[in-house]
Amino acid sequence: TPDAHVVRDPRLIRLTGVHPFNTEAPLSALYDSGFLTPQELFYVRNHGPVPKVEDSESLDWTFTIDGLVDNPVTLSVRDLQTEFRQVTIPITLVCAGNRRKEQNTVRKSNGFSWGSAGVSTALWTGVLLSDVLERVRPKRKGRYMCMEGADKLPNGYYGTSVKLAWAKNPEKGMLLAWAMNGEPLQPDHGKPLRVVIPGQIGGRSVKWLKKLTITAAPSDNWYHIYDNRVLPTMVTPAMAKEDPTWWTDERYAIYDLSVNAACAYPAHKEEHPAVTPETDFTYKVQGYAYGGGGRRITRVEISLDKGTTWRLTDITYPEDRYRSLPDDATYNNSTFDVADRETSFCWSFWSLSIPMSELQAAEDVLVRAQDEAMNIMPRDMYWSVLGMMNNPWFRIEVVHEG
Ligand code: MTE
Repeated sequence: TPDAHVVRDPRLIRLTGVHPFNTEAPLSALYDSGFLTPQELFYVRNHGPVPKVEDSESLDWTFTIDGLVDNPVTLSVRDLQTEFRQVTIPITLVCAGNRRKEQNTVRKSNGFSWGSAGVSTALWTGVLLSDVLERVRPKRKGRYMCMEGADKLPNGYYGTSVKLAWAKNPEKGMLLAWAMNGEPLQPDHGKPLRVVIPGQIGGRSVKWLKKLTITAAPSDNWYHIYDNRVLPTMVTPAMAKEDPTWWTDERYAIYDLSVNAACAYPAHKEEHPAVTPETDFTYKVQGYAYGGGGRRITRVEISLDKGTTWRLTDITYPEDRYRSLPDDATYNNSTFDVADRETSFCWSFWSLSIPMSELQAAEDVLVRAQDEAMNIMPRDMYWSVLGMMNNPWFRIEVVHEG
């Protein structure tokens, strides 16, 4: 296969056959690995072949910045490392297709079936895009930042865009990164250089970065238009194929992630011998949750009675441990407080200990999260043709003995 040079962990579950490589870890393995996901268990979403870059070539990798700028430049990874301040930030990436399998079960979408492990977190090291953009001085007419990778695909190079105002804003925490968890990027994750955008769908974080172009209009790249969108629910695959104007409406493009959560324990089909009052024990129901656009998760609730009543869980925010700087510090070379301390760029973890007997008395466990803007996971699914941004109440069926 074209990716013969790439080494991969056998625990990863392939979602699309041999090529391209699209994969998630088993949810339990992902969850057990903790707040920072090891690179080898980090989910992978590739549209095509992984560019081959030797270690010895990484520092010489270049990308261009042009378009509506006063000062177009070509920069190498070495230039980024030596001429700009380096920052390290924990950021969770989520594929817009996370949890798509549930949509495909209801009605087949045009996308492959992600479970709920299309989400991972790393400590990313790089430079702030806002610093790099200061160097090129975008013109007033510039409103979008288009990005393009080096992976050649059937419809051109992978590319997309975001608003220039976001990229220029250091509080958005957008990075050009060359390392995750203190190691160089592995080939699947963009070696040697990628964009990392906190709080937005992973599809905007372009890997193997070759080109940034400042423009007056959103990207016209095929993958910007025909991917990463939530079309109205009445648009069927046939309608979407026949009428391309469904795709060109920028209002349907996804940027911020939506509030979402999943339950890791109990797992689907997890079995326990039936307890009696004598053998009853405490069981910790637990999982992850994330908000979009830097919004913090403010509550996660579970229901054991189909949503009639809800119990509040405990939430931990491991990312706050990385906010170690004194209040007056703006940056150093290791950890960086890019945003105010309420901003959340990462997943958080929720848990509630309950008697096993109560769990066994239920038919299912339902989970819903809410963020600081009071966005709440809906009861009902919003099906769409690409099956993206699926975030209804997460459900685990409780397995009963006999
Ligand atoms: N960048 C390039 N150049 N090519 C791609 O196929 N896939 C995008 C994004 N950046 C992609 C890309 C999508 S859809 C996602 S979800 C993330 O990369 C996945 O990043 P990861 O594979 O490191 O987890």
